[in-house]
Amino acid sequence: MNNHQIIAIWGSPGSGKTVTSIKLARELASKQINVLVILCDALCPSIPTLLPDAHAKEKSLGKLLSLPSLSQEHILQHLVPCKPFDHLAFIGYVHGDNAFTYASYTKERAFDFFTLARHLADIVIVDCSSLLSTDPLSVAALEVADQVLRVYECTLKSLSYFTSHLPLLGDSRFHADRHLHLLSNVKAKQDSVQYSNVFGGIHHLLPFVSIVEQQAASARLLDACEGKEARSYLSAIQKLAGRFMDHPPKAEKQSFIQRLTEKLKGVRS
Ligand SMILES: Nc1ncnc2c1ncn2[C@@H]1O[C@H](COP(=O)(O)OP(=O)(O)OP(=O)(O)O)[C@@H](O)[C@H]1O
Ligand SMILES: [Mg+2]
Repeated sequence: MNNHQIIAIWGSPGSGKTVTSIKLARELASKQINVLVILCDALCPSIPTLLPDAHAKEKSLGKLLSLPSLSQEHILQHLVPCKPFDHLAFIGYVHGDNAFTYASYTKERAFDFFTLARHLADIVIVDCSSLLSTDPLSVAALEVADQVLRVYECTLKSLSYFTSHLPLLGDSRFHADRHLHLLSNVKAKQDSVQYSNVFGGIHHLLPFVSIVEQQAASARLLDACEGKEARSYLSAIQKLAGRFMDHPPKAEKQSFIQRLTEKLKGVRS
């Protein structure tokens, strides 16, 4: 496996970027792959909606990015672990954060952040913001990612978003022609074939399933998707995860979180 991959998940507002990031991360972590999820949403901070019990007050992504200097130690200090997942950690905006909570950061800082973060995990998943004009971190992720998963929905709103925003990624440094296309949250009555054609072909499709909707509404996206209805969703997530784990690493005796904690001690001593 190409260790230290960055996967950026980007698409139209409300298309399922966060849900897909979490489900993909959970699936990879269940195979003992160490996954770090970066949650870029600064508008509606994600940590409280995904991990409401986490003690993350001092661990805001906004605080991390606006530090006078940035090191791997700083990133390690801002990781939010999530029991009982030994191979999964998060960094994101926290309860109460808004655009004025922290000083702004530069594009260079965003690049430095990904260079450092890449070496902490086997796979870094970046849940990008749709609003690229106000989020240098998402733009940097789209540039440095080894793979971009472009998330569409079968709606006119999604079509309108991509018509407006794809031209922003026209520069060759974004490699927009290499993006993987995901049609997400597809409901039974929607014409996925027609939308797939309009979007220029689809590599993966995730169906709407009510258990995922319920989990998203109750901060339980890290729970398993069980039941007959969820089978098609689960197999689609497994297929998607398979793209990033051709040769999964051997299971480590030490957990990801333990390893990172020891690394943090090592950096300090
Ligand atoms: N496969 C699915 N099945 C059922 N519901 C889904 C599915 N995917 C997404 N949803 C629903 O869509 C909502 C929006 O999903 P999500 O928050 O992942 O979108 P997003 O692209 O991250 O949105 P934003 O642009 O606000 O960040 C979820 O709260 C959930 O209700
Ligand atoms: Mg989101």
